[in-house]
Amino acid sequence: MPNIGINVNGLNFENPFVIGSGPPSTNAKTIIKAFDEGWGGVVAKTCSLPSTEVINVVPRYGKLRNQKGDIVGFENIELISDRTLNQWLDDFKKVKDKHPKKILIASIMERYNKDAWQELTGLIDATGVDMFELNFSCPHGHPETGMGAAMGQNPPILKEVTNWVVAATKKPVWAKMTPDIANIVTPAKAALEGGATGVAAINTIPSIIGIDLDKLRPMPTVEGYSTPGGYSYIAVKPIALRMVSQLAKGIPGIEISAIGGVVKSDDAIEFMLLGGSTVQVCTGVMLHGYEMIHELKDGLSKFMEKHSFKSVREFVGYSLPFLTTHHDLVEKRLAKQTNALQSNRDNQWSGNISAETEAFVSN
Ligand SMILES: Cc1cc2nc3c(=O)[nH]c(=O)nc-3n(C[C@H](O)[C@H](O)[C@H](O)COP(=O)(O)O)c2cc1C
Repeated sequence: MPNIGINVNGLNFENPFVIGSGPPSTNAKTIIKAFDEGWGGVVAKTCSLPSTEVINVVPRYGKLRNQKGDIVGFENIELISDRTLNQWLDDFKKVKDKHPKKILIASIMERYNKDAWQELTGLIDATGVDMFELNFSCPHGHPETGMGAAMGQNPPILKEVTNWVVAATKKPVWAKMTPDIANIVTPAKAALEGGATGVAAINTIPSIIGIDLDKLRPMPTVEGYSTPGGYSYIAVKPIALRMVSQLAKGIPGIEISAIGGVVKSDDAIEFMLLGGSTVQVCTGVMLHGYEMIHELKDGLSKFMEKHSFKSVREFVGYSLPFLTTHHDLVEKRLAKQTNALQSNRDNQWSGNISAETEAFVSN
C-alpha cells in the first residue's frame, strides 16, 4: 500500500483530503463525524468576533441540473457561521480532545481592524487548533462592508491583514483566495509576503443560479428578491483547475490547498497533478456524505500503485510542465509538421535509392 499521507507546513496530514469550510464543518459534532470517517483535515465553518453580525436567510441554496436531472452546479448565499465565538472555542477544544492527531483548521474572517483580527486569532490559538485559514474570499453579504472577497481583491490590505494574524500566532496560516479577480497570482503573492505559509483556492464564484420563469424572480428568492451568490460543485472544477495551475506555475514551491468541484478521487488527483498538496471538498460532502472519503482514499492508492508513485509529493505538480502558452503550442505543431515533411522526403529519397540500387543490382 502506498503512503497517502503528506506533510504540509510541518503538519502531518494522514491523507491529503480536507473538508472545506462550510456546512459539513458547522460544529464539533460534524467535524468529529468527518474525522471518525477518515478525513485527514477539516477547515471549520468561518467564524468571527461576536461584534460581527451574521443573520442567514432561507432559502439560501440553488441548484443547476443537467438534462438528466443530476445536480452539476450549486449556488449559496449563506454567510459565515452564525454560532457564537464561545460555542466555537468550546467546539475546537472538544474536537482536539477527541482527535488530537487530525488536522483542525480554524477559518476566520473579520473587518479591517488589527485588534479584531489579533483578538480572534489569539482566542482560537489557545484552544489547540493546528492552523488558520483566512477567509479573504466570501463573495456575498460581508463584502458589502469591506470583508471577505472585498479584502481578497485588495492585495495591499490582504498582505497587511495576513501580517496581523501571523504576528498573533506561531501556527501555519493559509489565505483563502477569491476567484473573482483578474490574476489570482497577485493576491497570493501578497499573502505570502504578509507571512502566509500557503493559500487555499478557490472559494465560490459569484453567480446567479437562474430565474423562476413563473414568478419572474431571480433565485434563490427571499421575500421576492435575490442577490448574487457563490457557485460551487462539479461545474466550477475546470475554472478551479486553471486557477490552481496559475498559482503553482506563478509561485513555484507554494503550498496550495486546492478546492472546487471535487466529487471523486480522479477530480482530487487532477488538482494534485496541477500543484495542490491537499484537496478540500465542501459541496461534494453536502450532497454525497462524509463516506465519500473512502473512495477518495482508495482511488488515490490505486492511482499511486498504477504509476509507481511512492509518496504524494512525488506527483504534486507533475502535469504542470505540460501546460504552456498557445503560441508555444503553435510552434510545437509547426515543428512537428516540418519534421514530418522532412522525414517524408527522406523516406521517398531512400525509396528512390533502393529502387535505383535494385535496378543496378538486377542489371
Ligand atoms: C453552503 C456553502 C457555505 C460555504 N461557507 C463557507 C465559509 O463559511 N467559509 C469559506 O471559506 N468558504 C465557504 N464555502 C466555500 C467552500 O469552502 C468552497 O471553497 C467552495 O464551495 C468550492 O468548493 P466545492 O465545489 O467543493 O464546494 C461555502 C460553500 C458552500 C456551498
